[in-house]
Amino acid sequence: MRLLVTGGAGFIGSEFVRMTLRDYPGDSVVVLDKLTYAGNERNLDSVRTDPRFRFVRGDICDAAMVGELAADVDVIVNFAAESHVDRSLEAPGQFILTDVFGTFVLMDAARAHGHQRFVQVSTDEVYGEVNHGLSVEGDPLQPRSPYSASKAGGELQIQAYRTSYAFPAIVTRGSNTYGPFQYPEKIIPLFITNAIDDRPLPIYGDGGAVRDYLFVEDHARGIDCALRKGAAGMDYNIGAGGETDGITVADTVLRLLGKPSSLKQFVRDRLGHDRRYALDSTRLSGLGWRPTVSFEAGIAHTVAWFVEHEEWWRPLKSGEFWEFYQRNYKPAVETPAP
Ligand code: NAD
Ligand code: TYD
Repeated sequence: MRLLVTGGAGFIGSEFVRMTLRDYPGDSVVVLDKLTYAGNERNLDSVRTDPRFRFVRGDICDAAMVGELAADVDVIVNFAAESHVDRSLEAPGQFILTDVFGTFVLMDAARAHGHQRFVQVSTDEVYGEVNHGLSVEGDPLQPRSPYSASKAGGELQIQAYRTSYAFPAIVTRGSNTYGPFQYPEKIIPLFITNAIDDRPLPIYGDGGAVRDYLFVEDHARGIDCALRKGAAGMDYNIGAGGETDGITVADTVLRLLGKPSSLKQFVRDRLGHDRRYALDSTRLSGLGWRPTVSFEAGIAHTVAWFVEHEEWWRPLKSGEFWEFYQRNYKPAVETPAP
């Protein structure tokens, strides 16, 4: 298979690229990535010299470039997105450009070139907040943040193409993912790197919001399973089946690093903070996929990786990162949670 992996220099995309080149000797991968603040070519260092690999810097909204690349591949797997909820609350426009319009550009190129598969990497957040039970694939999309609304917007374009043109798209909806190479703005890498530096861990609201944390290798294998074994036109949830709140994330990170509980700092809640996401992944299990890494094992591995790879994350926590951090957290700290 010849794959075009968009957003392949990001966190989950780069894991998927490394896994594909390792597990499928006959496959080749072209990565198209804009290298936004979240993209990092160093995430692909281990495959750079592989003759089956090529990196192209560019924007998925650039129809001419996407059209040229789509001509020489069999399938597009779209990881490219603006992906952080807090940034979407501050500036939603780029989310709509990349996550909605960019998805359309990729789909249109895949259709023009007669691809027999297209994979859209989406998120459990499109279901919105789920206070009870588990989300199944047929549930309505009820996104509540600018980020999840933009991901749902991409999905709705795909649904329209499926209906109108029998477009052979597969959508995966993964849960909150963590592991090595994650940009240190999402809760787990932020808390690990802050704790290493004895900085406070900012817990939104009462710290009771629940997420289903999925180890990155399990997520990448789930997407691979949907790509190779899934049926065109189907959506697949990918969740680990756990429920972990913010306080537990903080306590676990502090325990693993031997840091004091006094580093926990409760701050003003995120606007429109979704209280809970929870997925039923039975459909993907039916194709043979299972999560293999427990939260305890995955977070221990992730903490150890960040401890050993300061040269990877320390340069990222500079300039632009701290500007965002100040804007996002200073008001939250000055107006603490009740
Ligand atoms: P990430 O932010 O680490 O990576 C996104 C990548 O996309 C970056 O390399 C960035 O440079 C690239 N990109 C952004 N805009 C682009 C554009 N216009 N053109 C080309 N490249 C562009 O994100 P991630 O955490 O690896 O997430 C990957 C995908 O998985 C996203 O679609 C996200 O919505 C989805 N997802 C993420 C999670 C999670 O917890 N991280 C969970 C479920 C689904
Ligand atoms: P995050 O990692 O941003 O993922 P998402 O919002 O896409 O689920 O947040 C995960 C959970 O952690 C969510 O309930 C918000 C909470 N959180 C904090 O308490 N403090 C933080 O600094 C961040 C970034 C998140």
